[in-house]
Amino acid sequence: MEAGDPYIVDDEIAGMHLRAVTLTEAYNSTPAADAEGRRRILEELLAGIGPGTVVRAPFHCDYGTYCSIGARTFVNFGLVVLDVARVTIGDDVQIGPNVQLLTATHPLDADRRRAKWEAAEPIVIGDNVWLGGGVIVLPGVTIGEDTVVGAGAVVTHDLPAGVVAVGSPARVMRAHARQ
Ligand SMILES: CC(C)(COP(=O)(O)OP(=O)(O)OC[C@H]1O[C@@H](n2cnc3c(N)ncnc32)[C@H](O)[C@@H]1OP(=O)(O)O)[C@@H](O)C(=O)NCCC(=O)NCCS
Repeated sequence: MEAGDPYIVDDEIAGMHLRAVTLTEAYNSTPAADAEGRRRILEELLAGIGPGTVVRAPFHCDYGTYCSIGARTFVNFGLVVLDVARVTIGDDVQIGPNVQLLTATHPLDADRRRAKWEAAEPIVIGDNVWLGGGVIVLPGVTIGEDTVVGAGAVVTHDLPAGVVAVGSPARVMRAHARQ
């Protein structure tokens, strides 16, 4: 599954998903004032989370074990991470409200889709990227460091480092100065 091979959900995968749902339900119902309690849940849920990273509730993911978030990253309300394949979020990333990182995909072939085959491709969000509100990142996309993606964009292809991209599909609007 994580390697990108087609699969059909079995009991083991369903159990992994139930684990993530149970932990995210606990996370989302833990008061924001209990920062240590929230942090402990994220450390158990995710493959990794760096120091100084803040994830506002609600947060949702498929498995957690395939999602890592770097240091000093800020995640606003409503992030959805379908981490069927690996999702790597870098350091100092800013993620706006209601962003979706979607590694999962279904067959376009009607018979294989009816048979419940699924697959996935990894997503990488580089250091110091800013994803505006409502951005959707599709399977297999890598976004280079320092890049800004405008609110509401659908990112269908890789974006290079150090650009501003907007729209659906996301297109580079301009390069911007990198520090
Ligand atoms: C992408 C963004 C950072 C660009 O800001 P900017 O460089 O100041 O851009 P401008 O406002 O000068 O706009 C430049 C052009 O891009 C267009 N544009 C700007 N943001 C856009 C967006 N998200 N989608 C589509 N087009 C956009 C503008 O309409 C303008 O086009 P025009 O010249 O034809 O009128 C900003 O528009 C944005 O989307 N910010 C996200 C805000 C957000 O999500 N906040 C939540 C907190 S994370």
